[in-house]
Amino acid sequence: MLCTWRPAARALPLRSRVSRGGPSERSAVLQPTKNVHFRKLTTMAAWVIDKYGSNEVLEFREDNRRPSVCTSAEVLLKVHAAALNPVDVAMRGGYGSTLLGVRRDALSLGWMGGEFPLVLGRDASGVVVECGSGVTHFQPGDEVWAAIPPWKQGSLAEFVVLSESEVSHKPKSLSHTQAASIPYVASTVWSALVVTAGLNKDSCSGKRVLIVGASGGIGILAIQLMKVWGAHVTATCSRSAEGLVRSLGADHVVDYTSGDTKAQLETLEKFDVVLDNVGGDTEDWAVTLLRPWAGAKYITLVTPFLLNLDKLGLAEGTVQTGLTAGSKALKNLCDKGVHYRWAFFAPNGAALDQIADMVDEEQVRPVVEAEFSFSKVAQAFQKVEQGHARGKTVINIVAEDHPQ
Ligand SMILES: NC(=O)c1ccc[n+]([C@@H]2O[C@H](COP(=O)([O-])OP(=O)(O)OC[C@H]3O[C@@H](n4cnc5c(N)ncnc54)[C@H](OP(=O)(O)O)[C@@H]3O)[C@@H](O)[C@H]2O)c1
Repeated sequence: MLCTWRPAARALPLRSRVSRGGPSERSAVLQPTKNVHFRKLTTMAAWVIDKYGSNEVLEFREDNRRPSVCTSAEVLLKVHAAALNPVDVAMRGGYGSTLLGVRRDALSLGWMGGEFPLVLGRDASGVVVECGSGVTHFQPGDEVWAAIPPWKQGSLAEFVVLSESEVSHKPKSLSHTQAASIPYVASTVWSALVVTAGLNKDSCSGKRVLIVGASGGIGILAIQLMKVWGAHVTATCSRSAEGLVRSLGADHVVDYTSGDTKAQLETLEKFDVVLDNVGGDTEDWAVTLLRPWAGAKYITLVTPFLLNLDKLGLAEGTVQTGLTAGSKALKNLCDKGVHYRWAFFAPNGAALDQIADMVDEEQVRPVVEAEFSFSKVAQAFQKVEQGHARGKTVINIVAEDHPQ
């Protein structure tokens, strides 16, 4: 794997025992044992799945093979805190396994017996333990955060290996618990609004941005980023989330539970960008709220891409996906004069560098709705699965990092 140069990075100094119920509160942390030296080097505790299904497939094991740095561009992190996203619940049930399986095999994980045991968890905040010989941004002891690509082993474990380009120095002002709540949603929002919609600090001022589904992980980060860059933000959420959404900077809030959302939004000036975090029939009316023939963009994060591949297989699923996305893009451009795009999470350490600066400058703040100890990962999954998020659900892997 090649070491990636990061032009946007900040200047930095050179730098089989199985238990189904989970560990006890104490055993969640590495405990001194007779074999501590052996265990520290070769095994680690992690929540794994050996098959897809509902919550009962989650298993806590202390004898998982500890990952190690294999290429010059990799770093080994000791995970202090992780967070859950809706995609973890979906992946637990097999979502995306057709494509992700191919990516995992391409990374030579096939010798481990396919994708299992699979560790979920896409957010990590922790400390660098070891660096490959080509790593230039990090050194052992650095406090870092990262969003983990879904084809890699996740952060519900004591250690995780990532590419240098996926990792960033965590904001100094945040605890690991707070930091873990940000990377995956921040990287996704960056992919959607910066890479796909083309917004940035110089182009955002005065732009009218509508965020549909503003009270969850994606929405809270999107509102804040847009406000830092001077956009006018309208947000949709339920009445009970209005206070949170306003406190993050939303200029106008529409309660989607209080009547016809489309009708309420139609009374407002047209938008330059819509970020759709809800999907379904939202896109039918959201595209009509955009300024026609003015370069306005509808960006949705809720796409059938991976589902198509799971249902139809790689070849047919890819063709179907291309046809669907292409025809919708063409129809919306020709009929309404607006750009229609799908957006996806992409790991981006350089974007996290910029978000870290915003956090340390108190422009962006974490919203941690719920915290669970490492022994309570199954309960954390239940919490996320219930929906109605008002921020992020975080798992403290190292308990002393944030006493509960
Ligand atoms: N394409 C990608 O790569 C990618 C990456 C990340 C996330 N996503 C997707 O993006 C979506 C949002 O992710 P997230 O992490 O923000 O999810 P989340 O944390 O679960 O938040 C979803 C929020 O939407 C609210 N909501 C539900 N129905 C709504 C509606 N009709 N109108 C307005 N708000 C509504 C929910 O609260 P109430 O139900 O109480 O209203 C909740 O606060 C998910 O579908 C996720 O799978 C896609």
